[in-house]
Amino acid sequence: MRKKIVAGNWKCNTTVKEGVELAKSVNELVLTKGAKDVVVVLGTPFTHLISVAESVDSSRVNVASQNCAAEAKGAFTGEVSVSMVKSTGATYVILGHSERREYYNETSDTLNKKLALTLEQGLTPIYCCGEALAIREAGSEKEFVKQQLEETIFLLPTEKLLKIVIAYEPIWAIGTGKTASTQQAQDMLAFIRGLIADKYTKEIAEEISILYGGSCSAVNANDLFSQPDIDGGLIGGASLKAADFLAIINAF
Ligand code: PGA
Repeated sequence: MRKKIVAGNWKCNTTVKEGVELAKSVNELVLTKGAKDVVVVLGTPFTHLISVAESVDSSRVNVASQNCAAEAKGAFTGEVSVSMVKSTGATYVILGHSERREYYNETSDTLNKKLALTLEQGLTPIYCCGEALAIREAGSEKEFVKQQLEETIFLLPTEKLLKIVIAYEPIWAIGTGKTASTQQAQDMLAFIRGLIADKYTKEIAEEISILYGGSCSAVNANDLFSQPDIDGGLIGGASLKAADFLAIINAF
């Protein structure tokens, strides 16, 4: 069944101490006031994973890394493997974020390796897709997103696809304060679900959670989450404030 999911993406923000404080505040709010049927995920920097995982109630708050190495282990200086991420207590891995694709040249080939390793370790990938402004203005956003999916997660067999959470994040809406309209977000998510139904089956499409990301906030989350195909959000800026993040968790 599709799950409701609100995942925070802290990006390259907070020291370990600040991150632990934030995680503790979120944890406290989730335990006392959070909607029980919403899966909460905190996407922290690698350095924070273990401390954050130890500071939250793992039955209510999950921890994610924002990336992982494309290799299982070995001589890859500076890289952090999925098994290392797993050993911290984290259970999710955000993959293919547009900032990683753009600034660190992550290609579909790299992402396929990361997806395979993440699934092999039993962690849940939150696979990001989404188009840049020029593509949206040219009216080719659907073809673009379709290609991103066809080159990666649509190569997976059904049982693996079922383990993935998809996050659609139009690049022009990330950190810009310019959210996609509720209709634009719903249209794209319905399109993605339709692609899954065509490629796999309608039943499979109904099992997969698809999130919207891009300036999702305490103010607009309610509208977005009321749409039939939007199962939650991947939240950047607003996940750095515990009260805002709680409001988003409670916006369904
Ligand atoms: P934003 O970031 O909510 O700050 O726009 C979302 C994301 O990049 O995941």
